[in-house]
Amino acid sequence: MSVRVLVFDSGIGGLSVFGPLRAALPAADFVYVADDAAFPYGAWEEWALVEHVVRLMERLIAMHRPDIVVIACNTASTLVLPPLRERFTVPFVGTVPAVKPAAERSRSRLASVLATPGTVKRDYTHALIATHGGDCAFTLVGSARLAAIAEAKLSGEVLDEAAIAAEIAPCFVAHDGRRTDTVALACTHYPFLLAEFEKLAPWPVTFIDPAPAIARRAVQVLAEKGPAAPGGVAGGGTGLAVFTSGRAPSASLARTLAGFGLAIAAPDAPPGFDKTAANL
Ligand code: DGL
Repeated sequence: MSVRVLVFDSGIGGLSVFGPLRAALPAADFVYVADDAAFPYGAWEEWALVEHVVRLMERLIAMHRPDIVVIACNTASTLVLPPLRERFTVPFVGTVPAVKPAAERSRSRLASVLATPGTVKRDYTHALIATHGGDCAFTLVGSARLAAIAEAKLSGEVLDEAAIAAEIAPCFVAHDGRRTDTVALACTHYPFLLAEFEKLAPWPVTFIDPAPAIARRAVQVLAEKGPAAPGGVAGGGTGLAVFTSGRAPSASLARTLAGFGLAIAAPDAPPGFDKTAANL
């Protein structure tokens, strides 16, 4: 029996994690859930987001019976992992800002975390910097627009480069003859804008995408579950994309999902969809 992996995000950003996960577990069956009915998570009140994700996860876990859940969303992971782990027995792997790798990589000792407004506010993010930031000075940048811009890109829309440049500008700090040299991409939507970030950055920096590390962690957690768990070496696993809004994705997004090997759940009755839960 193959392993079942549920990958969860507020939208299509989690596909940046899904790619390396699928490569690491080619025989696993995947359900990718985009909670687009509630997108964007970045602006939600913390208590409301916790309640919403825990209730939605109740339905998704009952419906899909995954062996592991990957919360491919920093905005959710920095808040809801403890309540999820308390409520469910299935293991959760989260996605949190890559503060430690950024601190290890930065030579100028000026690094930035580019995230959503929610993630930069979290106590969890501040604690990560206090614990793993060392002597590196971190600038936290919460963008209210980039996640939606990444969604627009995957839906085939023309991008407003001036808007992207303005959103990333606060990441670039120069002081005492030093300049920011490392930026942690702490929203899973942002790797889809990497080409634009590299083009529009005022000077070259290293952008850190934590997705490969998350995939490695998921494989390790599955291996710890027991010998039956790892996804095997052969291909052939299935992939299903579920949108909680029930809306059909654009033609461009449908092509992207097909490229990831994900079939789209029927818009009328996607598995795990429940309007009441999705619109809390
Ligand atoms: N992809 C999500 C993250 O990693 C957030 C996007 C949103 O604001 O919903 O934080």
